[in-house]
Amino acid sequence: MSIPVLTFFNNKGGVGKTSLAYHLTWMFGEMGKRVLAIDLDPQANLTAAFLDEDRLEDLWENTPDQPNTIFRCIQPLLEVGDIRIAERIKITREISLIAGDLALSGFEDELSAQWPLAMSDQNLVRPFKVLTAFWQVMQQAAQAHDADMILVDVGPNLGAINRAALIASDFVMIPLGVDLFSLQGLRNLGPTLRSWRSLWNKRVDNWTTPTIALPKGLMTPIGYLAQQHGVRLSRPVKAYDRWLNRMPLEYRQSVLGKKVLKAPAVAADPECLALLKHYHSLAPMAMEARKPLFLLRSADGAIGAHSYAVQDAYKDFQVLAKKVLERIGMAKSA
Ligand SMILES: Nc1ncnc2c1ncn2[C@@H]1O[C@H](COP(=O)(O)OP(=O)(O)O)[C@@H](O)[C@H]1O
Ligand SMILES: [Mg+2]
Repeated sequence: MSIPVLTFFNNKGGVGKTSLAYHLTWMFGEMGKRVLAIDLDPQANLTAAFLDEDRLEDLWENTPDQPNTIFRCIQPLLEVGDIRIAERIKITREISLIAGDLALSGFEDELSAQWPLAMSDQNLVRPFKVLTAFWQVMQQAAQAHDADMILVDVGPNLGAINRAALIASDFVMIPLGVDLFSLQGLRNLGPTLRSWRSLWNKRVDNWTTPTIALPKGLMTPIGYLAQQHGVRLSRPVKAYDRWLNRMPLEYRQSVLGKKVLKAPAVAADPECLALLKHYHSLAPMAMEARKPLFLLRSADGAIGAHSYAVQDAYKDFQVLAKKVLERIGMAKSA
């Protein structure tokens, strides 16, 4: 049995993917879930959220006795070797991390090259090993961590690394900015997800006698989140509402592929998992403290009104985490 994989995905940057992956990892940990977080964005922002600069330097400068990164796990595949087992970085008792790596972008070409080869009638072991490398690494590490779930952060594009990340994903959550670009972005993102899913199925069907375990590539969309932090103060609320109100229909048409002409209002839309608040100064404070904003203490600077905001944030993320567990069929064991 494989361990469920949830990925935060949008080909647009700055919509809060990394921040969400980070905060939900912590909140699931708070709820007693064992989580493996993995950073598949070559920009490695999630890794930088968890680890301080000294730690990052040691990790990336390849100082002896440092855990390997995701790139170092898959690096042997660029020659003739097999994947290396990931050395997890312990964050808390519940949370472990597979660190990201700026060098990961060096895997993009190999992933692109192996994609068509998985449809050939030649030896299929290598193409499938390469295309499922992320899944193999994360599943092995998650088993070792005795994880309940795997959370994945990816970069903002529709490239081969993200295709491999999505093939490894059972569930996808889509954070959105509230603007025209995000709305239009959904029109690329939805069909891309559906095409990746069906192209992966074709490849799996092409391998009649697989000799390694393969992911199903379900990438089931579990809903979207609308970010309020992207709202520019100068922009009128009316413009914000205008884009927000178009999201339920666009999500159904583009991402779910439903031929519908009407959708509920955002506030009543079950596909909208949250309207994420702008946490203002708590966000930089949390980054500085290398903590989720809902665990900030007075020693971190969260005093007065901030401490109430921290409590509110805790509740917001708790509600969201519970909804996510429902969506991925883990609510009972919560
Ligand atoms: N709810 C929020 N409130 C305030 N700032 C936020 C919030 N979510 C994200 N941010 C900030 O917005 C910026 C972009 O978020 P990030 O998670 O890095 O986006 P992405 O991964 O999609 O590029 C970061 O500086 C982050 O701290
Ligand atoms: Mg990011």
